[in-house]
Amino acid sequence: MDFGGSFTDRLFDRAGFQQGARALDVGCGTGDVTLRLARKLGAEGRAIGMDLNGSALDVARQRAADEGLHNVTFVERDLQHLGQEEQPFDIITCRRVLMYLPDQVAAAKSIHAALRPGGLFVVQEHDATIMQSNQTLPLYEKARSWIWDTVRAEGANIGTGFDLYGILAAAGFSDIDISAEAIVVTPTQAGHTAAIVDAMAERIVAAGVATRAEMEVETLEERLIEERRAFSATTVGEMMFGAIARA
Ligand SMILES: C[S@@+](CC[C@H](N)C(=O)[O-])C[C@H]1O[C@@H](n2cnc3c(N)ncnc32)[C@H](O)[C@@H]1O
Repeated sequence: MDFGGSFTDRLFDRAGFQQGARALDVGCGTGDVTLRLARKLGAEGRAIGMDLNGSALDVARQRAADEGLHNVTFVERDLQHLGQEEQPFDIITCRRVLMYLPDQVAAAKSIHAALRPGGLFVVQEHDATIMQSNQTLPLYEKARSWIWDTVRAEGANIGTGFDLYGILAAAGFSDIDISAEAIVVTPTQAGHTAAIVDAMAERIVAAGVATRAEMEVETLEERLIEERRAFSATTVGEMMFGAIARA
């Protein structure tokens, strides 16, 4: 699922990475961003993915091996322990991680300290505080609330995109450049809502947001498409924020 991946590539192009740079991807999960970095930095560059979830890292290592990428490694570590590296990084990336952290400014300060002076911090956050549609779509709105009510119940700040400038400024970053792009869904342009509900089903149930019977995940995609077609709706369902800043 390329959920926001092309936005990540455009953000990387905008940041203008140097070939051969040394980069860290914080909260890398299964490595999508780390692998994009490794491809961009070339054989002389180095990309390190860091996450506290060991099983996600196993998937990431396998993906790197399948692609034959030799300039990428993955380490299991909490970002609280950032700074144990012997050398500062040229680039640090972080996609959809800050929103889950209880002290976002403290995390951004640790990242600042792990960058060389003038090094780049590139952040992507998905913001769920805006939704606009030219039609009322009851099922889509319900499915979307299953996702975001769960994330909020888990303690995340779902408005992090709008807070990025303040977080980065408070952490001491300069030359802060914020951009944003909306995820748009039309009758023929599919969203990822059903796939995300499917992937998050266990968490949605655990948070007490919806039951499996209410979600009916097996038929959700079909029902969402039917609804969009019936109303000929265009919906702006989520904003992807990108930030590029210098240490
Ligand atoms: C929504 S996932 C995003 C994964 C990846 N960045 C991406 O965009 O595909 C959030 C990731 O942040 C990781 N994470 C959360 N808190 C962390 C921490 N304190 N230190 C390291 N990783 C953390 C989680 O384990 C998870 O893999």
